[in-house]
Amino acid sequence: MNDHTPTSAERAAKLEGMGCKRKRVEDVRFVQGKGNYVDDLKLPGMLYGDFTRSPHAHARVKSIDTSKAAALPGVVAVLTAETLKTVNLAWMPTLAGDVQMVLADGKVLYQNQEVAFVIAEDRYVAADAADLVEVEYEALPVNVDPLKAMADGAPMIREDLKDKTDGAHGKRKHHNHVFSWAAGDKAATDAAFAKADVTIRELIVYPRCHPCPLETCQCVASFDKIRGELTLWGTFQAPHVIRTVGSLISKIPEHKIHVIAPDIGGGFGNKVGAYSGYICSIVASIVTGRPVKWVEDRIENLSTTAFARDFHMDMEIAATKDGKVTAMRCYTIADHGAFDACANATKWPAGLFSIISGSYDFPVAHVLVDGVYTNKAPGGVAYRCSFRVTEAAYAIERGMDILAQKLGMDPAELRVKNLIRREQFPYTSAFGWQYDSGDYHTAMQKAMESVDYKTLRQEQKAKREAFKRGETREVMGIGVAFFTEIVGAGPSRACDILGIAMFDSAEIRIHPTGTGICRLGTKSQGQGHETTYAQIIATELGLPADNIMVEEGNTDTAPYGLGTYGSRSTPVSGAATAMACRKIKAKAQMIAAYMLEVHDDDLEWDVDRFRVKGAPERAKTMTELAWAAYHEVPPGMEPGLEAINYYDPPNFTFPFGAYICVLDIDVDTGVSKVRRFYALDDCGTRINPMIIEGQIHGGLTEAFGIAMGQEIHYDEDGNVTTASLMDYFLPTAVETPHWETDWTTTPSPHHPIGAKGVGESPNVGGVPCFSNAVNDAFAFLGSTHIQMPHDHWRVWTAADKLGLHG
Ligand code: CDP
Repeated sequence: MNDHTPTSAERAAKLEGMGCKRKRVEDVRFVQGKGNYVDDLKLPGMLYGDFTRSPHAHARVKSIDTSKAAALPGVVAVLTAETLKTVNLAWMPTLAGDVQMVLADGKVLYQNQEVAFVIAEDRYVAADAADLVEVEYEALPVNVDPLKAMADGAPMIREDLKDKTDGAHGKRKHHNHVFSWAAGDKAATDAAFAKADVTIRELIVYPRCHPCPLETCQCVASFDKIRGELTLWGTFQAPHVIRTVGSLISKIPEHKIHVIAPDIGGGFGNKVGAYSGYICSIVASIVTGRPVKWVEDRIENLSTTAFARDFHMDMEIAATKDGKVTAMRCYTIADHGAFDACANATKWPAGLFSIISGSYDFPVAHVLVDGVYTNKAPGGVAYRCSFRVTEAAYAIERGMDILAQKLGMDPAELRVKNLIRREQFPYTSAFGWQYDSGDYHTAMQKAMESVDYKTLRQEQKAKREAFKRGETREVMGIGVAFFTEIVGAGPSRACDILGIAMFDSAEIRIHPTGTGICRLGTKSQGQGHETTYAQIIATELGLPADNIMVEEGNTDTAPYGLGTYGSRSTPVSGAATAMACRKIKAKAQMIAAYMLEVHDDDLEWDVDRFRVKGAPERAKTMTELAWAAYHEVPPGMEPGLEAINYYDPPNFTFPFGAYICVLDIDVDTGVSKVRRFYALDDCGTRINPMIIEGQIHGGLTEAFGIAMGQEIHYDEDGNVTTASLMDYFLPTAVETPHWETDWTTTPSPHHPIGAKGVGESPNVGGVPCFSNAVNDAFAFLGSTHIQMPHDHWRVWTAADKLGLHG
């Protein structure tokens, strides 16, 4: 017989709460092929839509003849801009305050732009018919170079804005100008540069890349004419925003729109905004009275749905001769493509780019960003980053390496000298951000010791000498990056989307038997939310995580929320979850006091129960209290055990990390081999270390892809030359390096459980680390900056320019 009474620690372990490497509950269905994705949905009478797209990057549309397409057996209808005009939907508003054509209206502005939407009984018939739509084009001059967009005589991309001198974010200074946005103190920064001992300046380009989720964007629209209700299933990272925007655009009352985001196969920012496919499917369902499915193919996804980056950053840093930074400034041209469909918080046209002073104690700083229109697809989303933070981290981390090179200092030593010190937190940056917490020096030291940094540098020195003697054709690079993110958008005073404050929500219902359901306004796309939110509840309420079901993605049942992107789920909805738990716990405490006939204050919490102080055997477990909440509440108290919380965070959270990469490059082939990649992350309180490690592995793999090969490239005529996975580098297990992960824990002081976001950190920190490693490999040969991506061809070309091929 086992008469062992479990200790508090044993009871806590059984809950599988915060800190536990709980296995992902969603994987039970995913690994068995039982996930429920949009394309799994089959409704009676469902039709299929497909687009006719423009082969031109810039052309006038002289005529569209749909008759042959409409005559193909199986075709039900063909929509053009003219059809959409009858319901006032030829154009739609973008999240950035611009407008965007749903279907080409008079002109096409980028290759593969949507021109007509064919609806057919069968997906293949729809595709065949899309090819039969006859469009007469008159080609116009093309510009795909953002640095030439505001030149005199540059082709006018947006004729609809011809006479508009005011844009969504102030005055426009050219017909291809979208906005100017500045932050920091220009006068003080210029003054600091004027008297600096040392300055560096470099054009640092973060090329256009694409989130490229495995599941492309897709939806099913079903309009019920009798009830006047629209149900829209889709790959939506922010279902409630889609409902609100959908209602504003379509004029269908918001309560009659049901948005459902089922399982999503990766989002990375690509599935935040609204696309023509959604609008056309909705209109098609209204027109035909039948459900309509639209599923993008890979080429459509890569060439038309939201891209990322395309920032051209003129980066400058000023410093003393012994390496203390005194100022930074950065003038940036941001290529927004043909429409400004950037997914940012409304007030921030360049996102949170002013995190660009990074982890360093800059006394003064200034940034200016000009957004421009070009003949490229619209977008500018935060691809696994918080609104332009990745661009900022890349610019400052490359800048610091270039400064180290100029000063003849070790890049790690320069960083250590300038990192914000622990005692400076909460730290207000030169741009006014208040960094919540950090211990940068401990993280940097741990990283350097873990890889034995000194020995690596000695080995590199020896290799460089051997290279100079002609004994090897390999160069060794050591990349160092220290990044600070700004995640958890956001405090409503700083962030909104189209006027909706950026809070988030959690609603928890504990059932009589001590199990429960938690519904949230966020939406997992693979991050494991069903596992981790339950762990927060387990620790907060003392109920086993297995007893909690987590549900997201249905706007009829979930409380209003702004969705999942920018690592905001843990900082915002994670906090809402903890706060909702605390309301439930407070009620449970009152019930316990009533049952135990003591005052509330005489009770203390012990893992999964309230017990009487000084008499621990007198206790009521949370499971018992759940039962009591439905039959034995104190007189006057409402029965039930439920709570809802809408959490408006007081500040962002500022996760950080120290990354080190070691690689070798064969200068004759340009082939690089990553020898080691060490990533130390600090995301505050860690909810599930295993999921965090998975997030880091995924983000590092994306960072590797971006730094070492990804680019959405256009030729001079505006043809997208990298629109399939034959040309766009998506790393597989074969190319992906081995990752070494590590951590420190510096809780956020303002978050209820001290957690910061983590999902995006590896992408933010990984890209500069890889790029610094490649650049470091060539630095001893006088190279200052080699642009990304560092694929074999470009690395070979850089080596060639350095005269390494004779
Ligand atoms: O918003 P998104 O889910 O993309 O990012 P996140 O808040 O960084 O969370 C990604 C995953 O990591 C979620 O399952 C979180 O619960 C988990 N996580 C964690 O376990 N501990 C943290 N401190 C932060 C995130």
